[in-house]
Amino acid sequence: MVLSPLLIGCICFPVAVDQLPSGNYEDEEAYHEDVFSQILKSNNGTVKKLWQGDIAIETGRSATKCTSCLWPKSADGTVRVPYRLSADYSDNEKSSIRDALLEFNTLTCVHFVERSTEEDFLDIVSDSGCWSSIGRTGGAQTLSLMSSGCLAKGIIQHEVDHALGFYHEQSRSDRDTYIDVLWQYICESDWGSFEMVDTDNLDLPYDYSSVMHYGWYAFSNTSGQPSLRPKPDPTANIGQRYGLSPLDVSKVKELYGCKLCTYLLTGVNGSLDSHNYMSEYPTETSCLWLIRVNKNKVLLQFDTFRMSPSGGCTDNYIMVYDGPSRSSRVLVERACGSLELPLLVASSGVLLVEFVHQKGLRASETEFRASYSSVDCGGTYRNDNGTVTSPGYPNPYTNLVHCMTTIWAPPGYQIILNFTLFELEYSFSCSYDYLLIHDGSQPSSPEVGRFCSDMEIPTIVSTGNVLLLQFYSDHWMNNLGYRADYHFVPAL
Ligand SMILES: *[C@@H]1O[C@H](CO)[C@@H](O)[C@H](O)[C@H]1NC(C)=O
Ligand SMILES: *[C@@H]1O[C@H](CO)[C@@H](O)[C@H](O)[C@H]1NC(C)=O
Ligand SMILES: *[C@@H]1O[C@H](CO)[C@@H](O)[C@H](O)[C@H]1NC(C)=O
Ligand SMILES: *[C@@H]1O[C@H](CO)[C@@H](O)[C@H](O)[C@H]1NC(C)=O
Ligand SMILES: *[C@@H]1O[C@H](CO)[C@@H](O)[C@H](O)[C@H]1NC(C)=O
Ligand SMILES: [Zn+2]
Repeated sequence: MVLSPLLIGCICFPVAVDQLPSGNYEDEEAYHEDVFSQILKSNNGTVKKLWQGDIAIETGRSATKCTSCLWPKSADGTVRVPYRLSADYSDNEKSSIRDALLEFNTLTCVHFVERSTEEDFLDIVSDSGCWSSIGRTGGAQTLSLMSSGCLAKGIIQHEVDHALGFYHEQSRSDRDTYIDVLWQYICESDWGSFEMVDTDNLDLPYDYSSVMHYGWYAFSNTSGQPSLRPKPDPTANIGQRYGLSPLDVSKVKELYGCKLCTYLLTGVNGSLDSHNYMSEYPTETSCLWLIRVNKNKVLLQFDTFRMSPSGGCTDNYIMVYDGPSRSSRVLVERACGSLELPLLVASSGVLLVEFVHQKGLRASETEFRASYSSVDCGGTYRNDNGTVTSPGYPNPYTNLVHCMTTIWAPPGYQIILNFTLFELEYSFSCSYDYLLIHDGSQPSSPEVGRFCSDMEIPTIVSTGNVLLLQFYSDHWMNNLGYRADYHFVPAL
């Protein structure tokens, strides 16, 4: 390691990130590091000159002012940020980066687009570490996302947010109101990492859960002692592990003047409805809700659904997409009228709901309310034939999982479901591991049966066009699981 002259004779190091206690988060997620700790770990050893741990300092350019560094806005209101991905990334790595960028495209008017011939663009490469400049610097602007260690969604969004013009949240000019810096646990050589910046706070609140906030122990040189203490409540969670927070999104929208009705929902469960939207964005006729549950799969259930069918589902409708953008797989295509939408299960932890309505309609004619949470496994099956299985099939299922599987045929069709394998943990009363099949679209729909052990399951024919399968395993003992083929047939 090369020591700068300043450090010689006074050697002081931050405690290795690995040895720091994780926060006192209450859930099991506690053991995951916050985004900034992951970044510092990936940047340990980089030779790049970085300020505050991950900000590239351009020579001849002040690191603390971003006055004309915004990306330009086109006449149509969008802010195009061209990017190029290094050919060194694998296809999977490229799609992780694109998925993280797509959340900005969906929620804000900042649209990351593949670069064609633009002069100013983000040159995303796998250099050593995770780092970026603040704002647009002009020309090909390097943003490093090292393949090993920088491709978590939160890290990608953190670095990209720097490139849009954002500093670390605790550098805000008003941070002293919200946080104490415990200088006694920070090496003098790292004090610069806690500098305040004369930021424009956009009249938006300080955000402990910003993806741009350091965690408690950033740069701490003393094991067990935090470098930052939120106030007045020192136990408030700071830093974040997953990605943009709702306020991070509001800040991008405010900085770039995006007039869009979009919401990001990041709680473990929650609800969305048309009423808030109509009062918060009275002039907008369409709105998007991006749901991100950070693990497993989003489960979405419509509790109220009333869409005036005028215009044949072109003026008033709901669309649901199985991913972060309107180019993701469509789960629900232009639903209107007063149909009963089944329980929907996404293929990942991200799902997008779009609501479009005519201006001037009364809320009683066009409204919806939905709630979401997550499940460990399952899915939504809409192809006219296919196979549904227990999680992990052909391997045995694991303990303590809860799956929801919706098989959804078009109106006027029935579903035929035929089991070709069924071996669950032995249980006399089906109270340990079991499969519950409902003849309908909701957990409250009539039960076809509750099955366990190696029961013989007869071929099942649905009454309507939806079947719902719920699979539960308890905390011990498992088995091979199940496998069933289904196909749709016209209703008699
Ligand atoms: C950086 O890496 C070195 C060598 O692996 C290790 O000794 C040191 O503790 C690390 N520092 C931090 C802050 O993680
Ligand atoms: C941590 O940093 C402070 C302030 O620079 C210093 O006084 C203290 O001795 C350092 N502690 C360790 C364990 O290096
Ligand atoms: C939402 O999550 C909280 C906390 O885990 C839980 O107490 C509550 O029952 C959940 N609500 C719903 C509707 O699932
Ligand atoms: C099953 O679905 C595939 C693809 O959708 C289709 O090509 C095939 O004909 C279907 N088979 C039956 C038996 O319906
Ligand atoms: C169900 O599967 C079994 C075994 O694969 C097969 O013999 C039977 O014909 C199938 N029944 C239906 C109704 O598809
Ligand atoms: Zn940063």
